[in-house]
Amino acid sequence: MTGGPRGSRALYAILGDPVAHSLSPAIHNAAFSAAGRRARYVARRVSADECGELMRALAMGGGGGNVTVPHKERVVPFLDRRTRAVAATGACNTFWAQGGEVWGDNTDVEGFMGIWQSAVSPPADTSPVLVLGAGGAARAVLHALLHSAGASVILMWNRTASRAHRLLDELDDERLRHVHDWRATAPAVVVNTTSVGIRGRHAPIDLEALATPPHLVMDLVYGKSATPLCRQAGRLGIASVDGRGMLVLQAEASHARWFGQAPPRGVMGRALEAASRGLG
Ligand code: ATR
Repeated sequence: MTGGPRGSRALYAILGDPVAHSLSPAIHNAAFSAAGRRARYVARRVSADECGELMRALAMGGGGGNVTVPHKERVVPFLDRRTRAVAATGACNTFWAQGGEVWGDNTDVEGFMGIWQSAVSPPADTSPVLVLGAGGAARAVLHALLHSAGASVILMWNRTASRAHRLLDELDDERLRHVHDWRATAPAVVVNTTSVGIRGRHAPIDLEALATPPHLVMDLVYGKSATPLCRQAGRLGIASVDGRGMLVLQAEASHARWFGQAPPRGVMGRALEAASRGLG
């Protein structure tokens, strides 16, 4: 992979499947322009088999990028160096090269914490938290909830129960419990880390079927318009945030890893708003 026709522009990419809906190129390219960086950012739909090698090629070519659903765990063995967040979560969403080695970080952890702090401010009753999913994004969210948010009870549900059990065994924390049936729970906060809703059609759960409705829904998914889960929350009068805020925070952190400097303030948020309007 090269830097394109002008050659000298470093290439950054988001690697995942699906990625067609991704607003990462819009917000990263806006930050590259505003910071005067000779770089461009593209979306690449890649299979699990291609992802690790492509990640390494991009990094060693002087660029870098992000990894998204469903490859965040799969790329970890391809890294030469892992930050503490990657070591703790077993998932990577940001990569680059430094000193001839490919580094990986997980900026979803701080991205989620930033959104959590603003969404539950002033501090509200957040126990229990019901986390939907047990993939790479769930790993970042659970790490943030356990180690930064100080959650006291976290209920975890996943379509594939064995995957949830593996994660539970790995994290080995008594505040974390697996539930077979999300309907039997009465969460204060629901966090969706599954990819359900990306295509705008289905919600991962029916909020009305919960034993009692939550105060807050946090959907890591985002799309052209409100996600199915946030739409239902709105109809039921439940406060909700979708994944756009977290997208910006994790992207700002990624930019800082790549260039050692934060992007110009507010640029990514404004680019996200403009790109969302364009899509809608
Ligand atoms: P990411 O790295 O973005 O978290 P991932 O590791 O592939 O992506 O995880 C995707 C999550 O969405 C998983 O929890 C997955 O559940 P499974 O472990 O059962 O695959 C969940 N998911 C994906 N499609 C789903 C669907 N149609 N219904 C319910 N959960 C789904």
